[in-house]
Amino acid sequence: MSKRFSCLAFLAVVTIPLSLAAQAPSLAIQVDHPTAKVSPMLYGLMTEEINFSYDGGLYAELVRDRTIGEGWRALTHWTVVARGNSVVSVSADEKAGPSAAVPRSLKVSVTAATETAPAGVQNDGYWGIPVRPQTEYSGIFYAKTDSAGLPVTASLVNDATGATAASATVSGLSGDWKMYTFKLKTGEVAVTANNHLLLTVPRPATVWFGLVSLFPPTYHNRSEGNRIDLMEKLAAMHPKFLRLPGGNYLEGDHISERFEWKKTIGWWIDRPTHPSPWHYRSSDGMGLLEFLEWCEDLKIEPVLAVYAGYSMMQEHVEPGPALEPYIQDALDEIEYATGDAATKWGAERVKNGHVAAFPLHYVEIGNEDWFDKSGSYDGRYAQYYKAIKGRYPNLQLIATAPIKSMKPDVLDEHFYMSSEQSFSDANHYDKTDRGGPKIFVGEWATREGEPTPNLEAALGDAAWMTGMERNSDIIIMASYAPLFVNVNPGGMQWETDLIGYDALASYGSPSYWAQVLFAKYLGTEVVASTLSDAGPRVYASVTRDENKRKLFVKVVNASSDAKPLNITLDGATKVTREATFITLSGKSPNATNSITNPKAVEPVERKISIAGPRFTQSFAPYSINVLEVSY
Ligand code: AHR
Repeated sequence: MSKRFSCLAFLAVVTIPLSLAAQAPSLAIQVDHPTAKVSPMLYGLMTEEINFSYDGGLYAELVRDRTIGEGWRALTHWTVVARGNSVVSVSADEKAGPSAAVPRSLKVSVTAATETAPAGVQNDGYWGIPVRPQTEYSGIFYAKTDSAGLPVTASLVNDATGATAASATVSGLSGDWKMYTFKLKTGEVAVTANNHLLLTVPRPATVWFGLVSLFPPTYHNRSEGNRIDLMEKLAAMHPKFLRLPGGNYLEGDHISERFEWKKTIGWWIDRPTHPSPWHYRSSDGMGLLEFLEWCEDLKIEPVLAVYAGYSMMQEHVEPGPALEPYIQDALDEIEYATGDAATKWGAERVKNGHVAAFPLHYVEIGNEDWFDKSGSYDGRYAQYYKAIKGRYPNLQLIATAPIKSMKPDVLDEHFYMSSEQSFSDANHYDKTDRGGPKIFVGEWATREGEPTPNLEAALGDAAWMTGMERNSDIIIMASYAPLFVNVNPGGMQWETDLIGYDALASYGSPSYWAQVLFAKYLGTEVVASTLSDAGPRVYASVTRDENKRKLFVKVVNASSDAKPLNITLDGATKVTREATFITLSGKSPNATNSITNPKAVEPVERKISIAGPRFTQSFAPYSINVLEVSY
């Protein structure tokens, strides 16, 4: 044994009684010592068409495959219905669509039908069509017929009982494509998702349907807008921005399958729809304007990701002249969002129904361009930078991979982690060079549990968020991903998603609640704090809001033991004796929420008494906590 080693052993023996006293777990907070500003935009939303996030998710359209066939697919969601002795067949007509962008239609050939035994087609929706009592649904279809004056009856019908919840008849179809509208108003019906939309005719005829749509009431009553329950869940997250439109969804597998924003604006029959990299075709109902209006409804800013010449099957556009048309597209896109009516694309937005320009400060150049093995991103970013800054010098341009030739304004970094990684890397940004670009953690998540994360994941997330919050002088924005999952069989392409839903209901995962807590109690400045002797899997971060004189103490106890912490609030002269204590916890790290048990893990808020600037507070096993103290 070396001399030095034996000396340390000796010291350990004689200091045991003293260190025992000093080892009581503690959190020392210097309330009057701010160390950094908290980024006011720290928490936001990241979104893309994945897991039926928009179609069959946020975008409230109830008809699946509304533009009939959508390219390669069979008529999976359209089936014939013949009552009594009626006879009907259906096929996709490739020649007779209502527009160039929607070239296909549903040809319904009825050879026998009467008023009492009508025939037609039904649509099964996205895992059912939700029906609620006393609710008005707004419908549209494009149709033409060989039987002038033909009436069409639209009905919401229960799959199991055949009972009609609501119906309406549109008459006077002709040989020309025309748009027809209808309303379906339910009475005292049971709430159920087991319904379909039925379109029938009462006599022999051939009728073509080009586009069929049905919307329930939407958030803020926006026509053809978003699902109310999901928007309410997003609003409760106190987000400050929406990163749109992806993700891989921006890039597509191939350049031809990228998010071509110009094909997502205007009336629906002018949107051709497109294949998404997540293995289903997007209706593009959630087009560029709808994304921006989604931001407007939540009073948040878009972080607009523009296509930057790379698609995921290693297809890229060389920097230089070949890239120019793509850069022009991005400039046009920015003008569409921000330009006034005197600009070409601002005028287009006005024509599309939105007069006011949208606020925009951040534009992201591509997505995860570190995957581009050609090494072209440096040149592509620089070329986009020059062109966009030339026109919009105040925009901050986010790079999606490190850039060697210049310092980007902001760098987007992504982290998909196990809980152990989230715990062990919770200090990831503590030592980051403050002279480098600002950081946008544009996608991150602790991936434990599916379809939605369990409490273990939420604990990992919360530990990671203490690190982001402490370093939010350099981390200006962060967004969990993916945001949504339709929990029906076949709905999920990516495990571990923040919010789950089916046609009728939705729920927040424990990780969702962790997001809510961190964003709701954000604060404006980080204050100095030292967590000592708390043992493994315990994390803390403290912020304050100087104007409101509120202190937000966040403690994550991911261990299996309760943790009493001696908390000291130095430099606080007027600590009130009543504090608000919010806890998200569960009996086991596997505790979770689901569509059938949506509230198993939810925050509990209570008032507690504290002794003043020095007090002891115990934190439950497997818990995420916020202590709000007025000072
Ligand atoms: O969030 C799922 C995917 O993960 C995103 O589309 C992509 O950017 C990342 O690789």
